[in-house]
Amino acid sequence: MIVVFGASGFLGKEVCKYFHNQGKKVIAVFRNESDRNKDHDNCYTGFTYFDIDNSSSAEGFKGFEEEYDEPINLVVNCIGTLSYKKLMDMTVDDFVGTLTINTIIPELITQSYLDYIDDYYKCNAGDTVVFNLVHIASLAYKIPITFGAHYCSSKAALAMLVKCLGKEIDEHYKLPLSVCCISPGMISESKMEKDNIKRLTELKGMSYDAAVNYNNSGKFTSVESVILVIDSIANGKLVYSNGYNFEL
Ligand SMILES: NC(=O)c1ccc[n+]([C@@H]2O[C@H](COP(=O)([O-])OP(=O)(O)OC[C@H]3O[C@@H](n4cnc5c(N)ncnc54)[C@H](OP(=O)(O)O)[C@@H]3O)[C@@H](O)[C@H]2O)c1
Repeated sequence: MIVVFGASGFLGKEVCKYFHNQGKKVIAVFRNESDRNKDHDNCYTGFTYFDIDNSSSAEGFKGFEEEYDEPINLVVNCIGTLSYKKLMDMTVDDFVGTLTINTIIPELITQSYLDYIDDYYKCNAGDTVVFNLVHIASLAYKIPITFGAHYCSSKAALAMLVKCLGKEIDEHYKLPLSVCCISPGMISESKMEKDNIKRLTELKGMSYDAAVNYNNSGKFTSVESVILVIDSIANGKLVYSNGYNFEL
């Protein structure tokens, strides 16, 4: 069974749709009811509301398992924000918000998942289920973007956070959890062409023609390639060290 955080977003929805179409049980996680677009209800098996900003919800995974009676062997965290902002317009709240999304939330999800796995093995000693947790980072962690100081730096923090968590899990917990992150470039698929150009002109300050050229240049990361990596992780086809960062 797969749990997808950030299921209301672009990538989250595609991840849900892909695994649901593969016949997997997919639980989509929304912050609250207003984020759930009911038109997408055929993209997942079930859904839940889980606002991880509230740390009291660290118990959340246990609820999912009770309802669907199958171990959650893959968690994909697609929570994020593309919060580019000019330095002189940035507030402390902006920075804290982005850092919360890219460090505190991933850490809370990892903590909850470890807690869930610990409980799982207490109840199912001798089982051989392997658990995987994928956080979505960004290539922006190493490519500076104009107006992206807090986005890029918080993604750099996420990449290092995942490395540290992988090391800690290997060294201190006798639990079969692999945590990794995927760092895509700007993600594109044909439906997003208008969005891509808007993002390049408004956020990165490109001229319209330059944005169209960039959009046609093949420099974007396809959503399919991100999903292919997640699928390979889910199927055990990728062998990687705990804390690994897949750059796409
Ligand atoms: N799209 C790209 O080009 C691109 C490129 C590289 C990396 N990435 C990364 O890929 C991930 C997904 O991107 P996307 O394009 O799918 O973004 P998106 O469409 O903006 O979706 C973001 C998701 O995060 C959720 N979210 C935002 N703030 C949250 C919070 N405080 N607590 C809980 N959930 C929150 C949103 O939920 P609500 O609906 O409730 O707001 C939404 O489901 C992000 O980490 C992004 O940085 C994206």
